Amino acid sequence: MTVGVRSGAGTGFGDVAGVAGKIRSAVESVIEGKSEAVNLALTVMLAEGHLLIEDVPGVGKTMLAKTLARAVDGTVRRIQFTPDLLPSDITGVSVFQQDRRVFEFVPGPIFATVVVGDEINRASPKTQSALLECMEERQVTVDGVTHPLERPFMVIATQNPVEMEGTYALPEAQRDRFTARISMGYPSYTAELDMLDAHGAASPLDYLQPVATVEEVRGLVETVRRVHTAPAIKQYAVDLVTATREHPDLRLGASPRATLQLVRAARARAALDGREYVLPDDLQALAGPVLAHRLLPTAEARVERRKPEQIVAEIVARLPLRG
Ligand SMILES: Nc1ncnc2c1ncn2[C@@H]1O[C@H](COP(=O)(O)OP(=O)(O)OP(=O)(O)O)[C@@H](O)[C@H]1O
Ligand SMILES: [Mg+2]
Repeated sequence: MTVGVRSGAGTGFGDVAGVAGKIRSAVESVIEGKSEAVNLALTVMLAEGHLLIEDVPGVGKTMLAKTLARAVDGTVRRIQFTPDLLPSDITGVSVFQQDRRVFEFVPGPIFATVVVGDEINRASPKTQSALLECMEERQVTVDGVTHPLERPFMVIATQNPVEMEGTYALPEAQRDRFTARISMGYPSYTAELDMLDAHGAASPLDYLQPVATVEEVRGLVETVRRVHTAPAIKQYAVDLVTATREHPDLRLGASPRATLQLVRAARARAALDGREYVLPDDLQALAGPVLAHRLLPTAEARVERRKPEQIVAEIVARLPLRG
């Protein structure tokens, strides 16, 4: 008798789309009319990345993060960034236990499945970098002892692009650590009406039941890692990134870290679509959200109000697929 080949760690490819579909519809039962944002948040979660949401207040940024965490039965912690927030307010501290005469580690809010960092640009650079270090290393070292973070672990950081006064804009090196950036955007007229019905008396989030477990999500992540990426796809990813570095309207192009994250996100998108292999379409769809926030336009391009999103869209439109 043959037993289906299912490497212990991952979930079968067919299951990914199913489980992910359940998570997606659970989140969309709370967040009205934002399927693209929901999809991208899920893609980033399965690609083991972090998400930056830049948008005005009250469009459901925090709600999206909370709902995603609830749908996968994970923990969610929210950190409100303020200028006086200290790195240890994020990571946790060692506290001396008088009675037992030992230091004991009290974990900070970074120890959660989904960590919402609200208004990340309001914290001092020192605190921002503490967060970004956790994001990259997925562990916290306090007093020489290393504590691993949760798996899955995803930071959803928010920034309000309008009110920038008294803030510390995230430096490029730090923006680079986010797999993707999205803006939520206002809901459509009908979605906003639906929201009034659904959210009128109480929030549907209060009733949302988890539809997957964190173990299942870990399985999905393992499966995503095994998605096939053909050499031509890898070349196409490098071509796209190289085009940003050579573009006359950009004074900073995308980093190799961006290339890695682009391909990882493309694998997640393929798996969510029920495919075992990446298509050029995955890279094209993700190029904007994954690359644009890392790019810096030149002074001239700025004057002409050329946005990095626009430049990436042009690169995608003109760059041919090799082979
Ligand atoms: N598309 C949407 N679908 C359902 N509810 C929404 C939507 N957009 C906003 N809301 C509702 O608006 C309220 C505010 O949302 P939330 O707190 O998530 O906003 P935010 O973007 O995090 O704002 P802030 O920048 O002030 O933190 C919530 O009660 C949420 O239910
Ligand atoms: Mg919020």
